[in-house]
Amino acid sequence: MSRRDHAILNVNVLDVGVAPGAWTLDDVHARSFVDLDHFVDIARIAERGTLDAFFLADGPGFWENPRVKPTRALEPSVILGAVAAATESLGLIGTASTTFNDPYDLAERFATLDLLSGGRVAWNVVTTYSPTASTNFGFETMPDRDERYRRAEEFVALVTSLWESTRTGVPVAHHGEFFRVEGALRVPASAQGQPALIQAGGSPAGRELAGRSAHGVFSAELTLDAGIRHYRHVKDVARTAGRDPGEVKILPGLITVIGATEREAIERYDRLRAHVSEGFGIERLAITLDVPVSALDLDAPVPETLLDAPADQANYGGSIGFRESVVALARERRPSVRQLLRELSGGSGHRVVIGTPEQVADTIEEWFRAGAADGFNLMPDALPSGLATFVDEVVPILRRRGLFRHEYEETTLRERFGVALPGDRAQSA
Ligand SMILES: Cc1cc2nc3c(=O)[nH]c(=O)nc-3n(C[C@H](O)[C@H](O)[C@H](O)COP(=O)(O)O)c2cc1C
Repeated sequence: MSRRDHAILNVNVLDVGVAPGAWTLDDVHARSFVDLDHFVDIARIAERGTLDAFFLADGPGFWENPRVKPTRALEPSVILGAVAAATESLGLIGTASTTFNDPYDLAERFATLDLLSGGRVAWNVVTTYSPTASTNFGFETMPDRDERYRRAEEFVALVTSLWESTRTGVPVAHHGEFFRVEGALRVPASAQGQPALIQAGGSPAGRELAGRSAHGVFSAELTLDAGIRHYRHVKDVARTAGRDPGEVKILPGLITVIGATEREAIERYDRLRAHVSEGFGIERLAITLDVPVSALDLDAPVPETLLDAPADQANYGGSIGFRESVVALARERRPSVRQLLRELSGGSGHRVVIGTPEQVADTIEEWFRAGAADGFNLMPDALPSGLATFVDEVVPILRRRGLFRHEYEETTLRERFGVALPGDRAQSA
């Protein structure tokens, strides 16, 4: 049932946009990130462009240094409820941490959203690395990566069986390392049987989890070669687990900065970066690489020895997924730190494409055809304007090239992604 006839395009809604200076644009209202109309407006634009889904990150705590990474203010599933009511076909993907939630509660929340939206929901599974989040949930210290992923494996299996209990009526009896649940969900099964699963986190344990259980992976890839390597790896994990590898879609983040001409796009990018000091970018880069700021010289490449994996993988405080994507770029091209920061849009580990609508379409086509991506989680530089430009200018090009749908054909997110509906429905699909 899995297929790959066109690209999947979600919009990853990072408040007023991913560019650090997005809030300075005339058409962006700086307080939009706490205004429901802002989110609904973005969703309607995405639906106008027949995008696959509206995707929200979470952030259950302040960062240790909020100056280097702005904090998400609002809880995703609540916003998705409002977006569901304002849209008809758009998929709804919400991030929630397996380290800081309760499985029954999460299963109930996402099943409810899935039922009420007509089967349009996916849960983005993350383990979260921010140590400040841990103290909000009563942990004295942040559980290390191995423990977080053991908990995530158990959490996902348990949530999945709770969702299955809504279809089968068979109660769950689970006694595991982290959780003990005996019971069943009361929420009736949705039109797609149960929510789809996305996973974000690129360490070996993260990729294992994705290959075995997820229908989509939100990855961070900066170079085509690394993208192809990681794509194949996750598909191999899926194959080894006895799954159809087409059922796990690889969806890297893609930051878009679009102009009518290439020059215009570059000017927009430079304008958005002008408000951000190099100190901001370098601090973020140092955190991602887990090296002292003093070890980074703006005019020299990152020293080779600092690119090796952190000695203590279990306790390295960042995301190995983001770190690996930056390391792949730094190794392949040996840019100076200054050039690297320019490519990283102020420190994010996602790829930036700066150019005309044709150039943005070219890069999407290149990665899709090369087998580095099944689609992308689009991260417009500023919202909503960056998304509106994408929908109005890039989507028609992708359609002409046969890479994107003209209208919605499926009602549920699983069907749109081309993955099986669970249980009875799988046989009839
Ligand atoms: C593309 C991407 C998006 C992520 N989004 C979130 C998020 O919204 N909330 C969160 O708590 N963590 C998020 N994470 C971080 C994961 O929780 C983190 O990567 C996790 O701790 C596992 O780390 P790993 O990358 O070393 O596997 C994201 C990670 C990646 C790679």
